[in-house]
Amino acid sequence: NFLKYFLLLFHHYCYCIYNYLATSFIHSCPSSCRCSPQGAAICIGSTITDIPPLPVHTYLLQLSGTNMNVINEQSLANLDLLLRFGLIKSHLHTVHPRAFLVAPQLKSVKLSSNDLSTLPSRVFSPLATLEQLHLDGNQFENIHPDMFEGLGGLQDLDLSRNKLRSLDSDIFEGLSNLTFLNLGRNFIKKLPPTIFHSLTKLQQLILYYNELEFLEADIFDKLINLVELKLHHNQIASLPPKVFWPLGNLKTLTLSSNQLQTVPEKSFYNMPKLIKLTIYKNPLLSLPDELMGHMPDMTEFYLYATNLITVPGNLFANMSGLLMLNFHLNDNLRDLPPDVFCCLPNLQKLSLKSNNLHYLHPQLFSKLTNLKKLHLNDNKLYGLPENIFKGLGEILEILLTNNNLSSLPGDIFVSLPALMNLTLSGNPWGCNCAIRGIARWIRHNEHVLWDRDDVMCHNPVYQLLRTVGSLRDEEFSFCSATRAKSFPLQDLSWSPTQPLHSLSTSGQTSGLTSITTPPTTATQSKQAAFQTTQGATQKVTDKITTQTVKHLFMSKLFKLKVPNTGNKYNTHQPNNSYLTLQPHISVKASSNSRCML
Ligand SMILES: *[C@@H]1O[C@H](CO)[C@@H](O)[C@H](O)[C@H]1NC(C)=O
Ligand SMILES: *[C@@H]1O[C@H](CO)[C@@H](O)[C@H](O)[C@H]1NC(C)=O
Ligand SMILES: *[C@@H]1O[C@H](CO)[C@@H](O)[C@H](O)[C@H]1NC(C)=O
Ligand SMILES: *[C@@H]1O[C@H](CO)[C@@H](O)[C@H](O)[C@H]1NC(C)=O
Ligand SMILES: *[C@@H]1O[C@H](CO)[C@@H](O)[C@H](O)[C@H]1NC(C)=O
Repeated sequence: NFLKYFLLLFHHYCYCIYNYLATSFIHSCPSSCRCSPQGAAICIGSTITDIPPLPVHTYLLQLSGTNMNVINEQSLANLDLLLRFGLIKSHLHTVHPRAFLVAPQLKSVKLSSNDLSTLPSRVFSPLATLEQLHLDGNQFENIHPDMFEGLGGLQDLDLSRNKLRSLDSDIFEGLSNLTFLNLGRNFIKKLPPTIFHSLTKLQQLILYYNELEFLEADIFDKLINLVELKLHHNQIASLPPKVFWPLGNLKTLTLSSNQLQTVPEKSFYNMPKLIKLTIYKNPLLSLPDELMGHMPDMTEFYLYATNLITVPGNLFANMSGLLMLNFHLNDNLRDLPPDVFCCLPNLQKLSLKSNNLHYLHPQLFSKLTNLKKLHLNDNKLYGLPENIFKGLGEILEILLTNNNLSSLPGDIFVSLPALMNLTLSGNPWGCNCAIRGIARWIRHNEHVLWDRDDVMCHNPVYQLLRTVGSLRDEEFSFCSATRAKSFPLQDLSWSPTQPLHSLSTSGQTSGLTSITTPPTTATQSKQAAFQTTQGATQKVTDKITTQTVKHLFMSKLFKLKVPNTGNKYNTHQPNNSYLTLQPHISVKASSNSRCML
């Protein structure tokens, strides 16, 4: 009995295998396709002009880069198990009105990147269980209002990258299960007010790269489940007040690259789940005092390429979870309210680079106790308050390159235990008494100053080739302590009372050294200065940086001769890098330069 049972089972098993082999032999994978054992077939190539015979259990078919320009009445016949059909990048231009009648089981149809400009009315309507329809990358200029009729189960509709200019107000009616709608990269100028009102399950709405000029006040009213709304790269010049208020579940809202000059007050209230909001690249002139509602989950915010001159003091106050704030590249941004960074206890990176900042309030950064990176480079800062960085106990990096700083308070960077990267080059450092303190700090913290070789004296003229870090304390010995301390920031004028003979460094082999001899009397030194100027030739054997050369040319006080090297300036060979300086200076004595460095 057991043997009989076993043989029967064995026979049945063999029969099954035979059957399977036979059917797959009849419809084996065509040569232009790759077929997976599970039933996915991917077919690529211009030799394909119609759907090839496929293994019967094929449930997914994707044709790409083919010459199949038409889907006709029988193209999809005999593929009863097919659920997902794609024909992409194939110059498809015609779909037969009954093309999908033979395959009502389809759940996904992708006809992306073809030449379709029109479709027969209700061509997809036999697909009662269709969930995904991609018509992106075609030539549609408009879409017939009944195109999606009967597709109540549709979840994902992509109409992007077409030439759509307008849409009928009822076109999405009945698509109550739609969760994703992409209308991006078309030429849509205007949307009917009720166009999205059936889409109560919609989660993602993509409208970017269109020509929208305004939004109807109640256009988003029914989109209570929307999570992502992308409106960037349009021409939107104004927003109706409260247009986003129904969107209480929104996590992403992009409004960048539009034409907004202002935003109505409280526009971003009632969006407690927001994690991304973009309003950069708008010609914003001002922002209202109340704009951002409670949005504790927002971790990054970008505000750049605007015309803002200043911002309301509480602009970021409700973004309590911010880790990174890039508030930069605003050409006109000149003033920051003292408390604008009041409420960002977690902020780690603050970029304020390339704005038009001249001055910063002493308390501006005082609450940013967790800040690690602060970028202030490429502004017009002409000075900094002594205590501006106080409290930034975690700060690792401060960039101050390319400002208008001639001096800094000597202890501005003390008590920043974590500081390991500071940049100060590209500033017109005035190497006079006022710089004594910071020069000392630099000497003791060389490793922190990333660009120390380019932090050059900009004046007085005789100090031009020196780095601030090379100034030695003895050189300031005649500056009175009080004088040095109280030296105001604006003292940029170089002191001409310096005896220039002290600069003659010919014969020195290392280090640009100037020996500063305190002047005996003002008159004497003035004379000496003038005389030496006439014939002074100076060999500089210090390391010459491009910054140095830039300084020299910019100051227009010297003719630069570089012997033996032609025009090429070699910064690495000390023997090639000496300069002959012929100063063309008209020395002007200033009788009130009391600190005679
Ligand atoms: C919409 O989705 C729900 C739940 O997923 C489903 O029960 C319903 O049948 C769908 N509606 C249509 C018209 O397919
Ligand atoms: C912060 O958000 C709350 C709640 O949304 C709101 O009442 C308050 O006015 C907002 N503050 C600012 C400065 O906008
Ligand atoms: C310091 O900052 C400069 C300027 O941004 C950067 O190039 C450099 O990599 C930084 N160095 C360190 C050690 O972080
Ligand atoms: C730099 O600051 C000085 C005053 O300290 C000012 O006269 C000058 O115009 C400023 N330069 C720029 C480019 O802002
Ligand atoms: C520079 O010149 C000195 C003296 O002329 C010579 O001893 C030295 O080797 C030269 N250095 C280089 C890098 O050419």
